Amino acid sequence: MNRKFIGITALLVVIPLYAQADAVSELEAKYQSQGGGPFSAAAGEALWNKTFIDAKTGKGRNCTTCHTTDQTKSGKHARTGKVIKPMAPSVNPKRLTQAKKIKKWFIRNCKWTLGRKCSAQEKGDVLAFLKSL
Ligand code: HEC
Repeated sequence: MNRKFIGITALLVVIPLYAQADAVSELEAKYQSQGGGPFSAAAGEALWNKTFIDAKTGKGRNCTTCHTTDQTKSGKHARTGKVIKPMAPSVNPKRLTQAKKIKKWFIRNCKWTLGRKCSAQEKGDVLAFLKSL
C-alpha cells in the first residue's frame, strides 16, 4: 500500500463524519437561535416513540410508524410501503449529512405524525437522539 492510497482512504472515512457533524451543528445552532436548547437525546427518544392520535382516523401515529422501533434496521412507509433505509448514522453514514434534507423531512413528518410543526426544542432533541445511534 502506498501513502497516497492510505491518505485517500483516510479522507473517504473522515469526510462523511465531518459532513454529519456539520449538518447537525448547523441545525443545532439554528434551533438555539430560535429559543431551543439544551437538547436531550432522552427527550428526543421519548418524542420519537410517543403516540399521537390522528384527528381524522382516530388512529395512533408515531415516528416509528414508518421508521420502525429499531433504527439500525430498514423501515417501511406507512402509506406507500416503500422501504426506508435505517436512520442510525452508525449503520447508514448518509444519515444527518444534509441540513436541507433534514429540514424538509422534519416539516413533512412532524405534520403527518404530530399534526403540527415540531418546535425548535423538539427538533434539536430528536437530532440529539438520532445522532447518538
Ligand atoms: C409516513 C412515514 C413517515 C413517518 C411517520 C416519519 N417519517 Fe421520517 N422519513 C420518512 C421518509 C419517506 C423519509 C425520507 C426517505 C429516506 O431518507 O430514507 C424520512 C426521513 C426523515 C429524516 C431525514 C434523515 C436524513 O438525514 O436522511 C428525518 C430527520 C426524519 N425522517 C425524522 C422523522 C421524525 C422526527 C418523525 C416523527 C415525528 C418521522 N420522521 C416520522 C417517512 C416518515
